[in-house]
Amino acid sequence: MFLSSATDYREWRAAKLDRYPTRVDELIVNIGELADLDYRGTEAIRSSCRRANMAIYSCNDSGVDHTAILAFAANFGLRRIDHHLCASNDGVAELTVASEGAGSDYVPYSDHSLGWHTDGYYNAESSRVRAVILHCVQDATTGGETGALDPEIVYIRLRDANPAFITALEHPECMTIPANVGNRGEIRPAICGPVFSYDAADGALHMRYSARKKNICWRDDPTTRAAREFLSELLDDKSGPVLRFRLQPGQGLISNNVLHNRTAFQDGPSRKRLLYRVRFFDRINS
Ligand SMILES: [Fe+2]
Repeated sequence: MFLSSATDYREWRAAKLDRYPTRVDELIVNIGELADLDYRGTEAIRSSCRRANMAIYSCNDSGVDHTAILAFAANFGLRRIDHHLCASNDGVAELTVASEGAGSDYVPYSDHSLGWHTDGYYNAESSRVRAVILHCVQDATTGGETGALDPEIVYIRLRDANPAFITALEHPECMTIPANVGNRGEIRPAICGPVFSYDAADGALHMRYSARKKNICWRDDPTTRAAREFLSELLDDKSGPVLRFRLQPGQGLISNNVLHNRTAFQDGPSRKRLLYRVRFFDRINS
C-alpha cells in the first residue's frame, strides 16, 4: 500500500487536502507563446501539478502546431511519447469527429460523451501513460465539457471509506481488458493489472481505470465491486471533488494522467471541435 505507515499517510493526506484546488480557476495559468514558455509560466504550471497533478494553461499563440506542443512538453521532461494507433507520426493525435480512418471506430473521435477513464488503461505496465497534454485548437458550438479528478484524491476518499478498497484495487488481476481484435487480427493482447500501482523509481501513484461497462472484466470479488460502486458515486457526485471545465481555443490541460471524462458536443457547420492530444511515458517533473 502507498504510504503504508499510518503516520506518514495522515501527514501526506492532510497536506494534500489542504492544497487541493476547490475551484477550476486555481488551475489556470496564463502563459505567452506555447513554444516559448518562460520561467514564471513553467513554475506556475509545476506548482499547480504539485497540488492537483494537473494545470490548465492558456496561451496567446494565434495558432498552435504539433511542434509547439512538443516543445512545451519538453519543459516538463515530457519526451517519451506513446505512439499509439491513432496518433500522427510525431505522436500527436488530432481528436475531432472522424467518419473514416484509424480513429473512426473509437468514441474519442466522435461527438458522443466519453466516460471516466485514465488514458492508456489498456497499455501494458511497461508502457504506462504517466502524463497527457490535451490542447484545444477549436471548441465545439455546444458541449464538450471536461471533468477531471486527481487520482490521489480518489485514493484518499477510498482509503478513508475502507482501506480494504485500496487492497482490492491494488490486486494484480483487478482489471482485465480483453484483446483488441481488428479485421486483420489481434491489434493488442489482453491486458491484466491493478487499478492502483506505484512507480518503482519515485513511488508516484498511478491509476488505471475505465468506467466502460463493455470490454472490461473486473475481478469477481465483493470488495472490488463495492470499491467500484463507491468510486462511481464519487465521480458522479455533483458537489464532490471533480473539477469541470470547458477548454477554450488556446487552452490545454497538462496532467499526470488524471481521471477525466467528456460530455457530448455538437459541431457547427464551420466550427469543428479539434483537440491535440499527446501521451507520455514520463511524469511531469514538478
Ligand atoms: Fe482520455
